[in-house]
Amino acid sequence: MTIPLFTLSRQSENAALTTSTKAAIDRVLEHQQFILGKEVVELEKEIATTCFDNKAHVIGVSSGTDGLLVILMAKGIGSGDAVITTPYTFFATASCPHRLGAEIVFCDIDPKTYMMDPEKLRALLASFQREADGTLRTAKGNRVKMIIPIHLFGTCSDMEAIMALAQEFGVTVVEDAAQVIGADFPSKEGQKKAGAIAEASFVSLYPTKNLGAFGDAGFIVCRDEKLADQIRILRNHGMEERYYYKVVGGNFRMDGIQAAILRARLPFLSQWNEQRQKNAAIYKEAFTKAGLLDLIALPAEPWAASGLKNHHIYHQYVIRMFGDQASAQRDKVIDHLNKKEIGYAIYYPVPLHLQECFADLNDKLGSYPESERASQETLALPIFPELKEEEIQAVVAAITEALK
Ligand SMILES: Cc1ncc(COP(=O)(O)O)c(C=O)c1O
Repeated sequence: MTIPLFTLSRQSENAALTTSTKAAIDRVLEHQQFILGKEVVELEKEIATTCFDNKAHVIGVSSGTDGLLVILMAKGIGSGDAVITTPYTFFATASCPHRLGAEIVFCDIDPKTYMMDPEKLRALLASFQREADGTLRTAKGNRVKMIIPIHLFGTCSDMEAIMALAQEFGVTVVEDAAQVIGADFPSKEGQKKAGAIAEASFVSLYPTKNLGAFGDAGFIVCRDEKLADQIRILRNHGMEERYYYKVVGGNFRMDGIQAAILRARLPFLSQWNEQRQKNAAIYKEAFTKAGLLDLIALPAEPWAASGLKNHHIYHQYVIRMFGDQASAQRDKVIDHLNKKEIGYAIYYPVPLHLQECFADLNDKLGSYPESERASQETLALPIFPELKEEEIQAVVAAITEALK
């Protein structure tokens, strides 16, 4: 049985979605607002009301990556600044501050959740030189301005702890919410939406995301109106009035056709998230029945005890092999999945501090051991909404055969 890691082809069975998608494309061909325009304005409003609350400013951009870049530009991040993130993330989280000339400082992850470890963050922040006015400086003399925690695989980082540390050390937080549209976080002040906890966040609408466009797209969320205005200007080369440039921005605009397609898809997001949650529950039961829980770790659910329905929206379903031989065990599983034509992926095979392009950071093998181990031991399995129960059983059976 061939089982893809991800496919959109099964959505053709959803007649309501097919009809509304075609109508959306026709609408754009009719009004021809291909860049920004009314589809983007309406999508921003619809995302603000369905995914956040009316206080959130939602700003459509050309991709999640560009979303982060624009936020950093709006916050004036550049040469002389330092930004903290983890090495266990998609490249863009670190490449954007690097592109603007900022120093990247990595903080290792919690081995269970794969997200920024607040204890390690505290130690890192405390290791910087603190000047009389509160300025934090790295060993290279750069000013520590921002922390970018990544909400990985569909659930939130420990934002309570990270926000408290950020406040204590006088640093801004921007959430990498690329993978968590629709997830909730149980803060002490009550339930919060992932992406609406810190000063600003960005979400990716890449086609494989829980809400995906038919090309690149993304959006920014922020609460401050002035920051939102600045971001809107930067998104469009830095101009407010046509051909008059207030600042140097870029072309970070969302296409009208992507916005129209996303407007057709947005009403299905909560249903798709629920189907992913159901699939995760089926995996859990099947792995438990197969007696594999002493050989593999299932995805951590750090906020499950909160009882929030959307504490995890399973953008990815990532398992981990246990023990000294974990990496070899993963190879065995991969071999078997290949034979059975079952899709899988490794997120992420090389942590960012070991990437060639970041060699100048001088972080060596062993600098962030938890990120390095996770890269060797984790494996993402199919979890897309239309995945069938018998396919999940077949994935678990294949892993059982490989490991037992
Ligand atoms: C954690 C993370 N950050 C940033 C991005 C960048 O988003 P995009 O691919 O829309 O540019 C992604 C998406 O792949 C992601 O998963």
